[in-house]
Amino acid sequence: MASVGIIGLGAYVPPNEMSNEDWMEYVETSDEWITTKTGMKKRRIASSNVCTSDLAVEASKQALDDAKLKPEDIDLIILATSSPDVPLSSTAGIIQHKLGCTDCAAFDINAVCAGWVHALDIGSRYVGTNGYQNVLVVGSEIYSRILNWKDRATCVLFGDGAGAAVLSEVKEGKGIISSWLMSDGSGSSVIEIPSGGVRTPFDSDEFVEGSQYFHMDGRAVWNFAIEAFPQAVNESLRKAGKNIEDVDLVIPHQANINIIKTGMEKLGLGMEKTYTNLHKYGNTAGASVPIAMKEAMEKGLINEGDLVVTAAFGGGLAWGANVIQF
Ligand SMILES: CC(C)(COP(=O)(O)OP(=O)(O)OC[C@H]1O[C@@H](n2cnc3c(N)ncnc32)[C@H](O)[C@@H]1OP(=O)(O)O)[C@@H](O)C(=O)NCCC(=O)NCCS
Repeated sequence: MASVGIIGLGAYVPPNEMSNEDWMEYVETSDEWITTKTGMKKRRIASSNVCTSDLAVEASKQALDDAKLKPEDIDLIILATSSPDVPLSSTAGIIQHKLGCTDCAAFDINAVCAGWVHALDIGSRYVGTNGYQNVLVVGSEIYSRILNWKDRATCVLFGDGAGAAVLSEVKEGKGIISSWLMSDGSGSSVIEIPSGGVRTPFDSDEFVEGSQYFHMDGRAVWNFAIEAFPQAVNESLRKAGKNIEDVDLVIPHQANINIIKTGMEKLGLGMEKTYTNLHKYGNTAGASVPIAMKEAMEKGLINEGDLVVTAAFGGGLAWGANVIQF
């Protein structure tokens, strides 16, 4: 099988910044609580006329430029999102139209905060098959619009943004050398939007005001995440035939600095082996890994020959990792 890797990368966050102090206008909270519990200081909030597809298009344009490709060179678009423009049709199709990818398939996947690592694995499997050469993988989210701005336990944790990568054939031995993915649906209610699906439609007698928004059992997610993150890194490395000592950089889902610190400790790695930007953007769900990867690249933290592990975990429960040889 041909080696498949990232030949172009892009990231976009909307310009409106919201600080911890700004949240104090909406809920009883403090900069001290948010900083100590999560490491977050700011996040970006999309304007009301901007959709998830719009952020995706901005990130995708950058990825295409970086890959030196035109929209019509893309054969397939896979969007990881849990905050789509509309419940149906697919937001990937809207991106395809807005980008002007004229000869191209497109679909969404939903693995919540672990969406990116799933989409990257799926995308890598299409390159070189079915006549597909270039696959655009996108993670894009506008969580500010699915959160309950009255629920302080969740609303302060997230931000909006998008990341995108063009996958194509690369030199043998380079690229995505393994992916490891896992799911535990027994925990599906730990993170969920209880209403608006077929179980409890908005017009059902069971509909309760507030249940149209994102809900989370934070402590249960914490207990899951501090195990899931290091497990995903270790299992993906085992599949790649690599050791933890081989790793140059771990790019984790930007959920919480304390989860990342605990996970890195369990892996036996110092914090200098990871990249975090959650203090600037909060948790951007399925977009957090590519946004962080793009920034790490721009800062010269990822170089030719480096072994990078991207790992993510969240609603589903779903978690996983990709091992990428640059
Ligand atoms: C959410 C999280 C930071 C909360 O930290 P915690 O130590 O578990 O805190 P608790 O939920 O026990 O709450 C402690 C107190 O802080 C309060 N609190 C919650 N949100 C608050 C906020 N924004 N500001 C101030 N106080 C807050 C709670 O009401 C609670 O008060 P009480 O003791 O009077 O009841 C932590 O559980 C976490 O990071 N979980 C993982 C979440 C995550 O990463 N989700 C995304 C996954 S992809």
